[in-house]
Amino acid sequence: MTTPRADRPYAVVVLGATGFTGRLVAEYLARTVGVSIPWAIAGRSAAKLDEVHRALIAIDPDCAKVAVLTADVGDDASLDRLAAATRVLLSTVGPYARYGMPVVRACVEQGCDYVDITGEPAFVKETVERYDEAARAKGLRVVSCCGFDSIPHDLGVLYTVMQLPEGEPISIEGMVRAKGGVSGGTWHSAINAFADLKAAMKSARLPTTPLPGGRKVRASKAGLHYDRKRRAWLAPLPTIDPWIVLRSARGLDRYGPDFRYGHFAEVRSTAMLVGGAAGIAGVAALAQFKPTRDWLLGRINPGEGPSEEVRAKGWFTVTFKARGGGRDVVTRVSGGEAGYAETSKMVAESALCLALDRDALPPHTGVVTTAMGMGEALIVRLQKAGIAFKVLEG
Ligand SMILES: NC(=O)c1ccc[n+]([C@@H]2O[C@H](COP(=O)([O-])OP(=O)(O)OC[C@H]3O[C@@H](n4cnc5c(N)ncnc54)[C@H](OP(=O)(O)O)[C@@H]3O)[C@@H](O)[C@H]2O)c1
Repeated sequence: MTTPRADRPYAVVVLGATGFTGRLVAEYLARTVGVSIPWAIAGRSAAKLDEVHRALIAIDPDCAKVAVLTADVGDDASLDRLAAATRVLLSTVGPYARYGMPVVRACVEQGCDYVDITGEPAFVKETVERYDEAARAKGLRVVSCCGFDSIPHDLGVLYTVMQLPEGEPISIEGMVRAKGGVSGGTWHSAINAFADLKAAMKSARLPTTPLPGGRKVRASKAGLHYDRKRRAWLAPLPTIDPWIVLRSARGLDRYGPDFRYGHFAEVRSTAMLVGGAAGIAGVAALAQFKPTRDWLLGRINPGEGPSEEVRAKGWFTVTFKARGGGRDVVTRVSGGEAGYAETSKMVAESALCLALDRDALPPHTGVVTTAMGMGEALIVRLQKAGIAFKVLEG
């Protein structure tokens, strides 16, 4: 027997609150919701949690009432206790390929919703295979990729589709620009994914099962090209984001009878394009062999991340060029430093959306994307929290 959602002691539990991003999430909740809803921080080290708790109390003395819970991803019973006590479990414990699956299991078995900030395709694909049916049967939403991977892209495309006529073929190009830094957790997750590129590429394939009504959902085949109007190179970006966008398109009829999406990095100088490509190729090559991989991993340790100064200067824009039903539109999602400042905001607002906006949520349950599981309710929340969704042309 699981406790019904409404009777649970906490609306949200933040697991991984002692990590670089998890602490930013907890600080965001302290600043925005304070103790107006019941929530808790969780992690494996009581001493580190105590330090984070003191930082929350410094933000708002009432945060002395925020609960502190211990749980270890290697201890299933501790995860079950956590998941049974909350409506939504937010996990920043990564790399997810290593630590994520026991947390998803506990949420599905104990009947709570789940959000995370992974960008690891193999992990997300495995959660779909293992838990989609069980989560759907219980009316739960398991929503990965609630950080910069992939909220601006997934919800930006949903926002763009909503500007176009219904029932028509739609084609969209997303173009990403960003400035910021990298944390230890992200660095380790990326190196591990590079080390097993074959698995990452394989998991990025979309299902081929036909869609009801003969709908088509396709990835754009456009390669590297120069966009004269934008005066920029557009380089295909093989992150998890296009896969998430296309999953949303498969799940949502509103994307029309024939939907096509291409995802690109927008690079304003040829030198940056060549330098960026060489850097990525170099890291991918070094990640293939254990000694060089260990050297790479040692460059940034878990728990470390970009300073407050770097975060304050960071920014991102994702511009969408779309055509559908005889209309052309250009839209943009933009905000501050993407990887940590805005990621902590995005995942915190995702958890709050699932916990508090039940009546505004779309009907889709199971292992879903943000567009399927929260849709416009989350766009509204993010706009209020300072992330811009705008129509630029059309
Ligand atoms: N999608 C995005 O845009 C985005 C942005 C930022 C980060 N991320 C991802 O988020 C993840 C976290 O990044 P980060 O830089 O915050 O990492 P981090 O600083 O290394 O934090 C990892 C957290 O996981 C906890 N943890 C590790 N093993 C655990 C266990 N056995 N039981 C319970 N907790 C455990 C750590 O606890 P201790 O403190 O006790 O070690 C820490 O709280 C990474 O996978 C990263 O790629 C994604």
